[in-house]
Amino acid sequence: MPGRPARAEKGHAEPGVQRCINPACGAAYSLHERIYVCPRCGETLEIDCGLARRANGSALRKLWGSHPVLRTASKDLRETSGVWRYLELLPFEANAPFVTLFEGNTPFFDAPRSAEYCGLAALRLKHQGYSPTGSFKDTGMATAITQAVISGARTAVCASTGNTAASLAAYAARAGLQAAILLPRGQVSSSKLAQSLDYGALVLEIDGNFDACMRLVQEIGDDPSIYVANSINPFRIEGQKTVAFEIVEQCNWRVPDQVVVPGGNMGNSTALGKGFQELLDLGLIDRLPKLNVIQAEGAAPLARLFAALDSKTRSDAIPEKLEPVENPQTLATAIKIGAPVSWKKSLRAVLRSGGQIISVSEQEIADAKAMIGRDSIGCEPASATTVAGIKKLVATGHIRQHDDVVAVLTGHALKDPDYMIRYHEGTLSFASGAKEDPRQAQPLAGAFRNAPQRVAATKAAILSKLERPR
Ligand code: F0G
Repeated sequence: MPGRPARAEKGHAEPGVQRCINPACGAAYSLHERIYVCPRCGETLEIDCGLARRANGSALRKLWGSHPVLRTASKDLRETSGVWRYLELLPFEANAPFVTLFEGNTPFFDAPRSAEYCGLAALRLKHQGYSPTGSFKDTGMATAITQAVISGARTAVCASTGNTAASLAAYAARAGLQAAILLPRGQVSSSKLAQSLDYGALVLEIDGNFDACMRLVQEIGDDPSIYVANSINPFRIEGQKTVAFEIVEQCNWRVPDQVVVPGGNMGNSTALGKGFQELLDLGLIDRLPKLNVIQAEGAAPLARLFAALDSKTRSDAIPEKLEPVENPQTLATAIKIGAPVSWKKSLRAVLRSGGQIISVSEQEIADAKAMIGRDSIGCEPASATTVAGIKKLVATGHIRQHDDVVAVLTGHALKDPDYMIRYHEGTLSFASGAKEDPRQAQPLAGAFRNAPQRVAATKAAILSKLERPR
């Protein structure tokens, strides 16, 4: 295991507590308690790191700026992990058994073609697909699996649409824990499934969707040998919130006007909201970026709830219940989720920031994805909801042409090559939805289609296909 980062300050007390998010309860629990919801009222938890007490914003900014990113066999975690370099803002002691695979420190791209497509002057893409297992899950898995080791668990489990599974499988293997993964059979891209198998996880496929897997994980999570690594676990959120810190650093400490993320189980938007809020509380930024969450139309329970909120009374008052989508449908399988577990925390963060939660169609997702490809960047389908959503939010005036906009791409393009090939060949459709709704059997129009072309094996035939000077 690489060496340990030094803390910026001395003499701190406990690095935090787990707190119930229900304002009427507010119960606090030790970090050592292996709980995922409040034992008193059943609401979700979040970690209060007591930052106001133990962190000094300007000292931290200097410390973070003084460490180059090396990604070598350096013994200093600050130079290898984009998560552990922010240790002062995380609920861990300096001598924790840190688990890492060089997560974080992901690139920030200019995307001029996507910007123009959306009607923006400029657009930047924070690409979390450039992570050890190719998705944004790795930052949260570094912290969750470290906590699993601290808590003495034997097996880490998760429900997954594929990426959490691949990430858990990798981090558990690194930490010497068993990984057990519950997947909705036939609904996970083969690339993601292959990763979990290769990292040695126990892969359990059930006949049911992600929401059914999630319910099962919550049921088995009370076994003392088991550690639940889904984003309902507040330690996952802690690692994922570091993306907000990276974004602000990469923007040279100028807060973007708008940050846009896909929404599935709502852990990512929760984490980004928490990260920005902590920077604000520490005085490191002077305002929150508007946080916008984009769901796929067929799996959009929170966008539906958001649209129904009275805009005049939109405030911190979070509704008690979310009406789940019973049979969520989208070709962006990563976000095929009807009952997101972190919806309250996510909604709270969006409302505080003044952002929006909307949904986009399958066609909009597919075309936005191809456009991100044309920018030489690429991403998996779920990530492309961001660009599709920005285009829509520009059209409705919620995002202005000259706003400083950052979209978070959550997964690498190679996570779902089958989707890409079918889009470019013009055969992308809901194969299984056809019986219920014949319209869904129609392939989506590939506005930016680029199908492979068959060509005779001769020089002349090949040259005839190329752009050539006249
Ligand atoms: N994008 C990708 C590529 C994802 O894999 C996910 C979620 C999301 C976006 C949505 O993020 O759930 O935090 O709102 N994937 C989970 C999984 C559900 O099991 O891999 P969220």
